[in-house]
Amino acid sequence: MPDLVRELESLAEGARRAIGAAADERALEDLRVRYLGKKGEVSAVLRGMGQLAPEERPRVGDVANRVRDEVEALLATARERLASERLERELRGPPIDVTLPGRRLVPAGHRHPVTRATEEIVGIFARLGYEVASGPEIELDWYNFEALNIPKDHPARDMQDTFYVDEATLGPGAGEGSILLRTHTSPIQIRAMKRAGAPPVRVVAPGRVYRSDYDQTHSPMFHQVEGFCVGERITFADLKGTLAAFARAFFGASTRTRFRPSYFPFVEPGAEMDIGCVFCRPSDGSRTSCRVCKGTGWLEILGCGMVHPEVLEHCDIDPERWTGFAFGMGVERVAMLRYGIPDIRLLFENDPRFLAQF
Ligand code: FA5
Repeated sequence: MPDLVRELESLAEGARRAIGAAADERALEDLRVRYLGKKGEVSAVLRGMGQLAPEERPRVGDVANRVRDEVEALLATARERLASERLERELRGPPIDVTLPGRRLVPAGHRHPVTRATEEIVGIFARLGYEVASGPEIELDWYNFEALNIPKDHPARDMQDTFYVDEATLGPGAGEGSILLRTHTSPIQIRAMKRAGAPPVRVVAPGRVYRSDYDQTHSPMFHQVEGFCVGERITFADLKGTLAAFARAFFGASTRTRFRPSYFPFVEPGAEMDIGCVFCRPSDGSRTSCRVCKGTGWLEILGCGMVHPEVLEHCDIDPERWTGFAFGMGVERVAMLRYGIPDIRLLFENDPRFLAQF
């Protein structure tokens, strides 16, 4: 009959010596595999248990467990010792200069043109004293439509093809059609004004918005920047001055602007702002060949207007005392004009050959 207890004890003796002499953490790992691994020496001894008399087996099992525990404990202590020796060596060695420039393993990327445009737009308004706010992309119908004077049957809802969140996915209790992917950043007007409690407020709010829309200039997910300013004696002249200053800061000092009357239920009066076409600058005065502005010489970049008194009332702001203006612009739109990008879809294909150009 094999004397497995003797074998285990001599194995333990060997392990003590080997672990004590291990020079580094790698050698310790090799020893762990050699003694405790599935095909290791302890397992090999235990495989011989079959040849023992049944009454012998518990005793050998006990010794095997003790040896395994001891080897594990020796390994743990040795690991700690080696780690603290390594640390000690590093501390005593030459210092690491953390100010050295990193080594680039892959070429550094850069920000996406939509991110760059957003940061630039927000930066311009921040310098004008606007505070940056955000709101949820999954929005309640009330903030996206109702509070902005767009009731259920209002035709303006058709202008913004909406993705509704299916009630079945929300579980019981959610009213039908009450939750949607916001179609514009204007709900942030309501949230920010309610949050502020009382004017004056000056807020700029960038974010993703969603519409069931897809062609060369329309994407189902795109970005807008909302801005609004509510205070005492704020007039349409403030709106014009602010947005013209923005256009000059973003598109260049000689940028011309014009305002055309337009309709948005949450402003009165409402307008759209155009900038002079940045693509065609004909010396003979003829523009008919420009495909971007279609010969008009003007490009629309945003919707704006004076905040509707009822919208102020929805935010518990007294429209007799306070007035304000608001605007919302498509970030892709201004980025396309600024960087000369002909198709909005290029911005979302994420082809590095395209993105590297900006
Ligand atoms: C609005 O969304 C209003 N909330 C803007 C506003 C805010 C008006 C405050 C008054 C006061 P409109 O639906 O026109 O308006 O969209 C604004 C801009 O978003 C457009 O000028 C256009 O540049 C951009 N836009 C609209 N739909 C898409 C789309 N599918 N893909 C890319 N850009 C789009």
